[in-house]
Amino acid sequence: MDKNDIYETIFRRKSIRKYDQDPLDGEILKDIEREVGNLKPLIPGIKTEVLLISSEDVKTRMMKKAPHYLAVFSEESEGYLTNVGYMLQQMDLLFSSNGIGCCWQGIPTIKDHVKPRSKLKFVILLAFGNPDEPLHRSDRSEFKRNPIEKMTDITITDENREILEAARLSPTATNSQAWFLSGDASSIDVFTTKPNFIRSLIAKKYIPMDAGIVIYQIMVAANHFNKNPEIVFKEGIEKKDTATVHQST
Ligand SMILES: Cc1cc2nc3c(=O)[nH]c(=O)nc-3n(C[C@H](O)[C@H](O)[C@H](O)COP(=O)(O)O)c2cc1C
Repeated sequence: MDKNDIYETIFRRKSIRKYDQDPLDGEILKDIEREVGNLKPLIPGIKTEVLLISSEDVKTRMMKKAPHYLAVFSEESEGYLTNVGYMLQQMDLLFSSNGIGCCWQGIPTIKDHVKPRSKLKFVILLAFGNPDEPLHRSDRSEFKRNPIEKMTDITITDENREILEAARLSPTATNSQAWFLSGDASSIDVFTTKPNFIRSLIAKKYIPMDAGIVIYQIMVAANHFNKNPEIVFKEGIEKKDTATVHQST
């Protein structure tokens, strides 16, 4: 699959919820499996498995069906949810930049017969297939996101504007955008914000995944601007949910 437009895709992608139910071509599915095998983890020690399954294998729970899904399984070690967010966002951007629609699916789950296919814990699904609605946004203004000032106390400059913008446009579960960016000219600290009681019942599992997604989008943008970024963890990312992206020019 073509990776040349990954950075530009950040500014156009959207969740696709209406699909043509015809399966994708077998060669494309093989290509997708190859890409899945090459995903870069955020935390290399954590065992993960990504299976390609179909709508027959999914309890959609009121969500519209897609012809295919990636089902992610993981070992439950420290930081595993953030690791899954970082890995699966690579597929979200790759699908979108190669004409395939996709949507993170926290509500649907796998049917019981799929569970024995992995010894690891089932984490989340990514639905995908040919879109039956426009694949991309035509303008950044179509993203429903908080303004950048609500998401960071970093001084915005010509140097960092597009990197912070790539972070701002990240998808999050229920569009909660429950993270905050701090730092300076050479580093961006990613913090998750504490949900209120009600939200924590619904979204606790997703907030660390959302952090992994935003870290990946920052990395794509920082690499695009040749910042040579490096990710550093502070005191265990599940406890404090922080990771820093250092940039050097
Ligand atoms: C971890 C996670 C779980 C999500 N779960 C669902 C879901 O179950 N159903 C759904 O329709 N969208 C789901 N979404 C998609 C979000 O609602 C969507 O990303 C957000 O509203 C921003 O919209 P956009 O992706 O079109 O930019 C999920 C997104 C994330 C990151």
